[in-house]
Amino acid sequence: MVKVAQSAGFCFGVRRAVDMLSRALEEGKEVSTLGPLIHNPQVITDFERRGVTILENAGDAVPGRTVMLRAHGVERGVYEALNRKGIPYLDATCPFVAKIHKLVGDATRQGRSVLIAGDKNHPEVVGIMGHCAPGSEIITFGNSSELAEVIRHDGISVKKVYILVAQTTFNMLEWQKCVEITKNVYTNIFIFDTICNATILRQKKAEELARECDVMLVIGGRGSSNTAKLAQICRPYCRTLLIERPEELTQYDFKGDVVIGVTAGASTPAFIIKEVQKIMSEITNTQDELSFAELLEASFKTINSREKVNAIVTSVSPTEIAVDIGTKHAGYVAFDEYTDDPGAKLEELVKVGDELELMVLRVSDVDGTAALSKKRLDAIAGFEKIVEAEESGAILEGVVVDVVKGGVIALTNGVRVFIPASQATMSKNQDLQTLLKQTVNFKVLETNKQRRRAVASIRAVLKDQRKVLEDQFWESVEVGKTYKGTVKSLTSYGAFVDLGGVDGMVHISELSWSRIKHPSEVVNVDDVVEVYVRDIDAENRKISLGYKKTEDNPWEVLHREHNAGDVVTVKVVSMTPFGAFAQVIPGVDGLIHISQISDERINKPTDVLSVGQEVQVKITEIDFDKKRVSLSIRALLEKDEEPQAEEAVSAVVYEAAPPEIQPEAEPVAGEEA
Ligand code: F3S
Repeated sequence: MVKVAQSAGFCFGVRRAVDMLSRALEEGKEVSTLGPLIHNPQVITDFERRGVTILENAGDAVPGRTVMLRAHGVERGVYEALNRKGIPYLDATCPFVAKIHKLVGDATRQGRSVLIAGDKNHPEVVGIMGHCAPGSEIITFGNSSELAEVIRHDGISVKKVYILVAQTTFNMLEWQKCVEITKNVYTNIFIFDTICNATILRQKKAEELARECDVMLVIGGRGSSNTAKLAQICRPYCRTLLIERPEELTQYDFKGDVVIGVTAGASTPAFIIKEVQKIMSEITNTQDELSFAELLEASFKTINSREKVNAIVTSVSPTEIAVDIGTKHAGYVAFDEYTDDPGAKLEELVKVGDELELMVLRVSDVDGTAALSKKRLDAIAGFEKIVEAEESGAILEGVVVDVVKGGVIALTNGVRVFIPASQATMSKNQDLQTLLKQTVNFKVLETNKQRRRAVASIRAVLKDQRKVLEDQFWESVEVGKTYKGTVKSLTSYGAFVDLGGVDGMVHISELSWSRIKHPSEVVNVDDVVEVYVRDIDAENRKISLGYKKTEDNPWEVLHREHNAGDVVTVKVVSMTPFGAFAQVIPGVDGLIHISQISDERINKPTDVLSVGQEVQVKITEIDFDKKRVSLSIRALLEKDEEPQAEEAVSAVVYEAAPPEIQPEAEPVAGEEA
């Protein structure tokens, strides 16, 4: 039985570098790699056949040829040298390695010392050291014993601050020991676990498989440190053979080996793993694996770009999904070809054994891989749905993912749909940024099938929704009915209120019982207000609304709270030759006629009273019909005789209106002034 470890072969960074170089060659670029791109002779030979040359160092670069920097990364000086010579370069430094460059660069610029767990001669470690600030202290060690030795030898400086990082392929167990040691010794240390997850996973799966095998085949370059580490991990559990090429298998005897495990270093292309698997299956003659005939047929099966394939998930990592597509190629779906959600976790979306329908993006016979995409296939199916929606007028749902010049982009069924600014909102003033990340409904206005482009309108849906609400409103509206609405706009003569599909207007005189100069004294735009229908003009579809409430009418309040004969304190608000007006309650002023100001004869009211003065008065009369309140100070002054009835002169009162414009404000004829 032949078993292949779940995580074996090209890691994300190596595959990225190989893809980058393949693409550059397809684009017609002449490329030289700075050192061999990966530790695999077959792949390197194939690239050389395609014109790729290998440089020993950056100084050998020649104008006209692009220099490719490999996944291990390089020192900062290399970039500077290439820039000085004006030589273009392609940077395939693995993002995980680039992160270490940044960590050590930032730390050493702040004067910190660097501890690096790794092989000081390995290009990756050389590159990391080359990103430290000039003159900074750098200490490298290959394992925990070396670290202990360095500490014993060099002593500890409590004044220094250290940063500890690891080569991405450093052994995890050794790393844990190093962390323990440094934590015990250094108090001022920042520890960053920079070991690559791909390496950890590969090592873990190799160990798990080695435990159940009679023999482990570790495939990879003899100069590859991660391959050597895999072999080192497997060795304690079973016989472990490190091979570089499938042909080497003939040197070994597998008699008596029932379970054979296969794993591979990060530079081993998938086709070599398949080849080894095939040879071992033939040797062990087991039926657990594909039959020879099936393998042969599969190896002849070809696939082309844009083809749709069915695939079975064979492993899932945070960055990609490995799949079997039934050919000699190892298929993989990169994270961003599976989902648009950067927060998604592939391990939660798919599991080993799941069947997927995918589209072929690229086929590389050099490394035996096929880059696949679920998103592209979804987008094709999604576009068909958009075309159908255009024909049927159906409403689609999507999420606004981008605000661009002239509109927004909504994502629906995996397709980016353009919505022009004029079609994105109901109001011209709405900021398009407010739509970002919102779920919106829209109608498709037009599509271009060749270019797979679609233009849509949110506004069309909003207009339809408004029409439905409008119709419902007109069916049920009646005078006196109350509504909750939102103030949409204000003018000098009133406020427009959105009642949910229909706008009505509250005239300024209907906003308040008091006299106001502008509606903004009572309501503001976006206020939610309760209004009632005063009048309906169904023909012109106009609604007149009321806002002020009957119970707030000052005359109603006066009626509830006061009677003639009450003694109240009032405030003088204005003066006339025939008397003084005083506020009884907000909105109701009463008149203290000149004859009722004093029990002595006075020439004018201002002889005794002034505006703003508070005085105690008796309410001598309230005429609700004529809206008049008569007040008297004199009635409260102690006298032997009650004032003559005719002396209690009526006052005229308005709803806070200036007396001089009110005809009723004239004194009673024949009255003594
Ligand atoms: Fe990068 Fe990890 Fe590979 S660091 S190059 S993905 S082993």
